[in-house]
Amino acid sequence: MAATALAIQQFATLSEEECDVRIRAAKAMLGERLVILGHHYQREEVHRHADYTGDSLKLSRLAANSNAEFIVFCGVHFMAEVADILSRPDQISILPDLAAGCSMADMANLAKVERAWRELAEVISPDEQITPVTYINSAADLKAFCGRHGGIVCTSTNARHVLEWSFARREKVLFFPDQHLGRNTAYRMGIPLDDMVVWDFNKPLGGLMPDQIRNAKMILWKGFCSVHQMFKPQHIDQFRARYPDEIVKVISHPECSFEVCEKSDYVGSTEYIITTVTESAPGTRWLVGTELNLVQRLHERNKHQGKSVHFMSPTVCMCSTMFRVDPQHLVWTLENLVDGHVVNRIRVPQQEADEARLALQRMFEVL
Ligand code: 13P
Ligand code: SF4
Repeated sequence: MAATALAIQQFATLSEEECDVRIRAAKAMLGERLVILGHHYQREEVHRHADYTGDSLKLSRLAANSNAEFIVFCGVHFMAEVADILSRPDQISILPDLAAGCSMADMANLAKVERAWRELAEVISPDEQITPVTYINSAADLKAFCGRHGGIVCTSTNARHVLEWSFARREKVLFFPDQHLGRNTAYRMGIPLDDMVVWDFNKPLGGLMPDQIRNAKMILWKGFCSVHQMFKPQHIDQFRARYPDEIVKVISHPECSFEVCEKSDYVGSTEYIITTVTESAPGTRWLVGTELNLVQRLHERNKHQGKSVHFMSPTVCMCSTMFRVDPQHLVWTLENLVDGHVVNRIRVPQQEADEARLALQRMFEVL
């Protein structure tokens, strides 16, 4: 074992081919001590090395059930945090590039959510009337906040069941950080838009009047995903107009706007999108509103059946933070492990982890 960890600079100029060979070699040496989890949005050169791939829900379950000593998460920061929270204390969760965050998750923080809770208490009794629901795309301290306040975590796969659970307990939901997932899910459950308000976290009382809060069922945090907000309803109209003689199918992630989801034939998580397109009839033409790397992979894997899978936006938009995890960072991480050094460990403080686990366990009990 070398005395110090290998520096990332030594790896920056490695070619993709070299990375590929060295990642395979390091994986072989680490054997069952290692598991690599990869989100569907990862670039192909990283995605192909994952032992398991999935959406946020599937990967969080895999992290909870893994026996590996090292869980290398090819995804973004909140995912590696969830792996740390759900794994045993002797397991180590690693994010190959610490700059791989989620800009939507960063739109809510503990100070702002606690301030919102205090301000809501001037109008109603939040701990009796509101279930706080955090999208899994959030920092661990927000999951802990939900754990403390009778709240819960959701993913894009189980948001509907989680909201049903929440409304069975309290009359209102404070949903953060993604307003779109909250709105799209609640609307499909039959909650009218008039019963939803948007909490602008930069304004006193969320920019709302007390009566608006008293009358609302869903209080939606004013957060959004910068990737999914690029998709517009006119992209769907233009696409349908381009193929007037064909039946085209449109499928979108629920982080897209309400207008995009309403114009789509199907709405669901990345796992749902993959299953729906893969199981569709040969020859189907798809327009997909989610991250570019996933859409390109779907096209490659389905084109042999005469299916064509198109990206919804005319401009290239991808998750730039997921993209931070490149093959060079993955080799660096793995070769350090082979050498006996852990780099980029993600560790959630004990009490925060315990409270966050509570909110995650409530989610697992729901679905
Ligand atoms: P999934 O729940 O589909 O994995 O979505 C996670 C995500 O970050 C989408 O932007
Ligand atoms: Fe976050 Fe959006 Fe990237 Fe998903 S696609 S990780 S929500 S920034």
